[in-house]
Amino acid sequence: MKNNAATETIATDAGAGSFYDSIAHLYDLTFRFNQYGRSLERYLRDNLLPLPANAAILDAGCGTGLLTLALLKVLERPAHIHAIDLSASSLVKAQRAVMDNFPHTKHSASFAQANVLALPFSNDSFELIVTSGALEYVPLEDGMAELARVLAPGGYLLHLPVRPSPASKLLEVMFRFKTHPPRLVAEHTSRHFRVVAHHRFLPFEPIGWTKTAVLAQKI
Ligand SMILES: C[S@@+](CC[C@H](N)C(=O)[O-])C[C@H]1O[C@@H](n2cnc3c(N)ncnc32)[C@H](O)[C@@H]1O
Repeated sequence: MKNNAATETIATDAGAGSFYDSIAHLYDLTFRFNQYGRSLERYLRDNLLPLPANAAILDAGCGTGLLTLALLKVLERPAHIHAIDLSASSLVKAQRAVMDNFPHTKHSASFAQANVLALPFSNDSFELIVTSGALEYVPLEDGMAELARVLAPGGYLLHLPVRPSPASKLLEVMFRFKTHPPRLVAEHTSRHFRVVAHHRFLPFEPIGWTKTAVLAQKI
């Protein structure tokens, strides 16, 4: 669907009921307050990806849609964004935010409840995969392998892993995840991808207290 609301929901049989169902509202409020979305937009604008028109994009573990919204704002060419998450409540929030903010757009966005470890997409489906703060909930090796499976050869992975810091220690407790050591992130990334750039956010951006951005291309 295009040029109108730009959303559709795909039902999958992935299990519901993640922790995020109960905290989707709090998560969304907190992360809007700390300008996380703005930082994502700034990063994407400053590091425009060489995507073809009508590129298929996956937001893996989209949560309340902050990355999808940033992509819809900055992408110049029409794109088709598929956003998946385990949390039904987060998906509802994400879908509503897209409908409210982008009632008319050249892009399309679809939302599905799915597990990043068993994505309901065939091999080589996407030109770009973005994922932020989701692989911290799964074994890194398995998550990376599944993302690599659905990314087309030459396609890009934009991974915003949590980086170890005093702030991320607090978030680990609040949001019940485990930060993967940067050494392991580098190791598992290099099994499937060639790292193109590693970005550290500016000190005044709260996103930089807990995240970095790794852009990699599928080998
Ligand atoms: C910290 S939030 C990040 C959300 C969003 N990417 C963002 O940057 O705001 C982590 C998200 O990962 C989702 N998640 C956790 N494990 C998952 C899995 N195995 N498959 C899909 N989503 C998962 C959670 O439901 C939650 O919405």
